[in-house]
Amino acid sequence: MSDSSTSPVPPTTSAADPVPLMDPQRVYPSWGPDAERAVVDVLRSHCYVKGPQVAAFEEAFAQHTGVAHAVAVDSCTDALFLVLRAVLSRRPPEQREVILPPFTFVATASAVVNAGGVPVFADIDPDTWNLAPSAVAANLSERTAAVVPVHIFGSPADVPAIRRVLCDAGSDAFVLEDAAQAIAATLEGRRAGALADAGTFSFYPSKNLAAVGDGGVVTTDDDILAARVRALRDHGQTRKMYDHEDVGTNSRMDEIQAAVLRLKLEQLDAWTHQRRAVAARYDAAFADLPLAGQRVLPDAESVYHLYSVRTPERDALRAGLQEARIGCGVYYPVPLHRQTCFGGDDAAESCPEADALSAEVLALPCFPGMVDAEVERVTAVVRSLLAE
Ligand SMILES: Cc1ncc(COP(=O)(O)O)c(C=O)c1O
Repeated sequence: MSDSSTSPVPPTTSAADPVPLMDPQRVYPSWGPDAERAVVDVLRSHCYVKGPQVAAFEEAFAQHTGVAHAVAVDSCTDALFLVLRAVLSRRPPEQREVILPPFTFVATASAVVNAGGVPVFADIDPDTWNLAPSAVAANLSERTAAVVPVHIFGSPADVPAIRRVLCDAGSDAFVLEDAAQAIAATLEGRRAGALADAGTFSFYPSKNLAAVGDGGVVTTDDDILAARVRALRDHGQTRKMYDHEDVGTNSRMDEIQAAVLRLKLEQLDAWTHQRRAVAARYDAAFADLPLAGQRVLPDAESVYHLYSVRTPERDALRAGLQEARIGCGVYYPVPLHRQTCFGGDDAAESCPEADALSAEVLALPCFPGMVDAEVERVTAVVRSLLAE
């Protein structure tokens, strides 16, 4: 896991040293110096938007994902919004429901509302923690315009099963993957973002592929959708400047972000490998403990944006880890169907699996550049806390 050529931080050897939940600066030496030069090149080019870096990054990202088109935008929130805007605007207002899981970051659902849709929260599978195909079936109707499975924590949702549910019901609902946390994850040999009608990714600085600010991308094989999102991200312009076919917005990625992301994309496989190695060690070390991990689908590979466990003793485990100065975090403490902005007071027992998971889930340190001694310390402390 540790790689002296990429880690500026000496291996943690003392039992008293803190272990962070994540630490992006560990891998900075492997990309930072090149990025510093690339940023200076962009500054000196005086071309800051709509330039060659964005075009080159889009091409590289489309190839990486295995799709025809990647459209770079300024965040995953906007990526979701723009796709949903394009999809929902083709449907009558009474047919704009969007089925999504409540166990996700708020952006998945706020994009639905901002695009003129109605979020319909469907429960998660208690083992994979992702949208349950059976819950999609239970919430599907002629009002359903789209389904948004989220690959939570980097583990692929069962998109093929969700598509079968739609097919069996004769539904033409659009399937949009929220792959914000799942860049490079695979299912049945295909990458996240290439499993459905379109996918969206986030390059927020804590993500597995991180920009030096905000960034996002839409992936799709659909030529018409790609052209529409391209237009919408740039004020609805298509044929030429100041010719607006549609009311769009400004959601463009800038040249500096694209230049940095192009460089970092080349290292992503190595960083993903390091995350998987940490996760495999945790899996082995926790196998006999009263802890459940996130079940990864057969024929899928997670990218462990977060390595989380669940236990009814979550709060005690968290307190013990904090006392031992080991970083941990609760993602997400309040599922979206309980949020006031989505009518939480009326949520009742609509998504009991998401409620239960939110009360039990805890993320442990898992990041590229994490050294062996840190993994050992986390496993030893977790084991001792759960043995008490
Ligand atoms: C599942 C999910 N969807 C959407 C987003 C929004 O991404 P961004 O911060 O790039 O807008 C995030 C960000 O954390 C996320 O985790």
